[in-house]
Amino acid sequence: MHLSAHHPLVADRTQDSRLVQAYLGRRPSVPPVWFMRQAGRSLPEYRALRETSSMLDACLQPELAAEITMQPVRRHGVDAAIFFSDIVIPLLVVGLDVKIVAGRGPVFASPVRTAVDIARVTDIDPDTVISRGGPIVEAVEQITALLAQESERRGEPLPLIGFAGAPFTLAAYLVEGGPSKDHLAARGLIFRDPAAWEALTGWLAEVTGRFLRLQLQAGASAGQLFDSWAGSLAPEVYRTAALPASRRAVEIAREVTPPREATIERIPLAHFGVGTGELLADIATLGVDVVGLDHRVSIVDALMRMNAPVAVQGNLDPALLFAPEPVWQEALDRLLRQGRAASAHIVNLGHGVPPETDPDVLTAIVRRVHEAS
Ligand code: CP3
Repeated sequence: MHLSAHHPLVADRTQDSRLVQAYLGRRPSVPPVWFMRQAGRSLPEYRALRETSSMLDACLQPELAAEITMQPVRRHGVDAAIFFSDIVIPLLVVGLDVKIVAGRGPVFASPVRTAVDIARVTDIDPDTVISRGGPIVEAVEQITALLAQESERRGEPLPLIGFAGAPFTLAAYLVEGGPSKDHLAARGLIFRDPAAWEALTGWLAEVTGRFLRLQLQAGASAGQLFDSWAGSLAPEVYRTAALPASRRAVEIAREVTPPREATIERIPLAHFGVGTGELLADIATLGVDVVGLDHRVSIVDALMRMNAPVAVQGNLDPALLFAPEPVWQEALDRLLRQGRAASAHIVNLGHGVPPETDPDVLTAIVRRVHEAS
């Protein structure tokens, strides 16, 4: 699929940004930094805007989603915006009944557990994400316009990162019906009814891949697949029950090709999961440009395990956000030194910003990353 004539060529305009350079494996002189969950409850300006609408409603109001996306960019001076949305948005868009329960996470009105439940869901045409995806496209277009203004102020291009949930992590929510510590119901289904599992994750790949492709098509400069809970799988189970559907989602996202007049060779994709240390050799076969790491694995060990030409992203322990300044500074400096072993390093946390975080600490981290080099 080719980008429409209306495509603002944003990916092209932002190709010299620190983030896109690093995502493509070219080490910029200053390493880029952004934070997973940089938009959200750590920011008082977010809490004020969110007062009148539910989380998922806010995601589908383009102007509101755009403004929330921009808040951390303006406040912290991070090198990228990440689209304010959620991994369950495409499932809501195609008609599933899902809510975000504060302090818990996504909850589905009817868990999807039996072959009959699964058939009901997989009957939905994945293209519905596109036909009903107007608010997503509109939000991305508004964000890229606001980023262009902010770029002018800063004197450097600012990319938007689009994202989607990986099929395994989405299935973990759908089968459980909500958040879970051990994902036992979902992992049990893999062994109980492998054919039903394959049908479900295959359908999720089509839906979530289209959700990401839609954002890239609308002007996001990079994409990230969140397989947050993949770390709960044994490597051989990950390989057979999760990786094929993730690979399909990546393939669909890659169907975005820059228009002929664009000079960017491809739109880079990143992958992130929690506790993926034992899965890294497999994740490296997904064909993404960037692998995100949580804080449980060192960058040096991760590079050895992957043995692939990928950039790495991460992986400051979010607990350090609550440490005295000299403590996080030392850990950050160590991280920056380790990052030099990779083709490129994008500074981030090992997981999302906790809601209790003092936002000034995030701003101070950004400043130190930019000044350290
Ligand atoms: O700034 C950003 O990173 C962009 C926004 C973003 C959100 N969700 C907004 C959000 C992103 C990238 C996500 C992805 C997401 N959603 C993931 C993958 C990333 C990860 O953290 O592992 C997952 C697993 C979800 C599912 C989900 N949605 C959870 C676990 C929660 C938290 C529930 C809670 O209240 O603690 C949500 C809700 C959610 N998504 C919030 C935000 C800002 C908080 C809800 C609120 O503000 O009321």
